[in-house]
Formats: sequence, structure tokens, C-alpha cells
Amino acid sequence: MRRPLVAGNWKMHGTRASVAELTKGLRQQAVPAGVDVAVFPVLLHVADVLDGVSGGVVMVGAQNCAVEPEQGALTGEVAATQLRDAGCKLVLVGHSERRSLLQESDEVVVRKFAAAQSAGLIPVLCVGETLAQREAGETLAVVGRQLASVIESLGVDVFRQAVVAYEPVWAIGTGLTASPEQAQQVHAAIRAQLAAASADVADGVRILYGGSVKAANAAELFGMPDIDGGLVGGASLNADEFGAICRAAGN
Ligand code: 13P
Repeated sequence: MRRPLVAGNWKMHGTRASVAELTKGLRQQAVPAGVDVAVFPVLLHVADVLDGVSGGVVMVGAQNCAVEPEQGALTGEVAATQLRDAGCKLVLVGHSERRSLLQESDEVVVRKFAAAQSAGLIPVLCVGETLAQREAGETLAVVGRQLASVIESLGVDVFRQAVVAYEPVWAIGTGLTASPEQAQQVHAAIRAQLAAASADVADGVRILYGGSVKAANAAELFGMPDIDGGLVGGASLNADEFGAICRAAGN
């Protein structure tokens, strides 16, 4: 009953030429009617990608937005309202690369989440534990805290118009994937935490798995009851591989 979503996070990859090629390849993919697909290019390439996918089913999102929803004096940032104006439908917030390399705090993530929604964008809230945290048995506590910061500040109802992505940091770009059972355990905990505040919000929200998803492991992951699609990094840079992941979500 939840529509699967497969999202490709292109991170800081690509030139205008390679992105045009990737976008063209994407258009040629057969995507099952029941699956939503989105890609998140570098901001500089968003307009090109929007042109490239126009008339098709692929949505375009941004990888980040400013904490302030409206345009103004904030050098180097892009406002959620400007992303919306450009044609973006979604925005990633709280990706672990930004949390760890750019010191984005839960508080900043909450502000970006709110800014995105106020502009009419769907925030994709990324949560996940490091290897050290997993080994210390802190996975559910860490993910629970990241999720709680949004619920406590903005209320559970904001998840009616949002997506959650569980991305264990140790599985990102490493070739290590959480097993379907490991991922399912965390996804179920995320849904249970939301259900404690609202059963129907929990029931409707899509929770994506991210971390070395590829065509070869996608079907197994997406077959788990609380995994509603994927947030794909490296494998989304290959149109055929990404297309195969999208098709796996339709089965
Ligand atoms: P990889 O698929 O390259 O591991 O990246 C996952 C990710 O960070 C998506 O946001």
C-alpha cells in the first residue's frame, strides 16, 4: 500500500556532459508504474536534469537546502523556496556526509526539514549510525535520537509529507550492505517510534534503505516489510544499474 520510492543521490559527481549522458540513459529505463523515482544531482546540474527528464516520470531533488526557507542575504546557500521555484520536488536533509564532514547538527537538520516543508518540498530525512556506534550496540538509540529531534521540534504529522532514509554510515560507499534482517530491524524501530505518536503516520511513511544498494541486492532488501525503497549512491551513476534497482522495487 506504500508506493516504493527509489532515489539516486548523485553526490558531488558529474560534469554537464556526463550528467546529460546519465539523464538520457535514465529516460530509456522502463520503470514499473507503481514505483516513484527521483534523482538528486549537484545543484549546478539541477536545471539541466529537469530539462532532460521533462515529460517523464523521474522527479528531481536537491541534496541540501538553507536553514532559512526564503531567499535573502546568505552567501553560498540556496533556499528551499528557490529549489521549489526551479522545479525540485524533494530535498535530502541530514545526509551523514553532511552531518559528519560538515558538522551538521540535529538542530540544523530540523531547521532544514522545516524550511523544505514550508516551501512545499518533500524532505528526505537521512538517519544512521557509525560502525563504532553499531559495535557499541547503540544503533537504535542513535537513529532514535536523530528521528526524535524532528518529532519533538515539529510534531509527528510532518511525516505525512516526508520520507525517512536509514543509511548506516558503515555501509555507505564501502560495498558493505546491511543484511536485509539488519536493515529491517532498524526500519521497524523507526516505524514503531513514529507509531507511538501516530499509527496512521507510521503506516503511511516511506522508509528507504541506503548503503551500497545495487541491482544484485535490491530485491532482497526491498522484500522486507518495512523497507519501502532505496536511497542509492554509487549505483545510481549507472543508468542501467539504477533502472534495474527501480524495477526490483516494483516486484
Ligand atoms: P552508496 O550507495 O554509494 O553506498 O551511497 C549511499 C548513500 O549515501 C546515498 O545517499
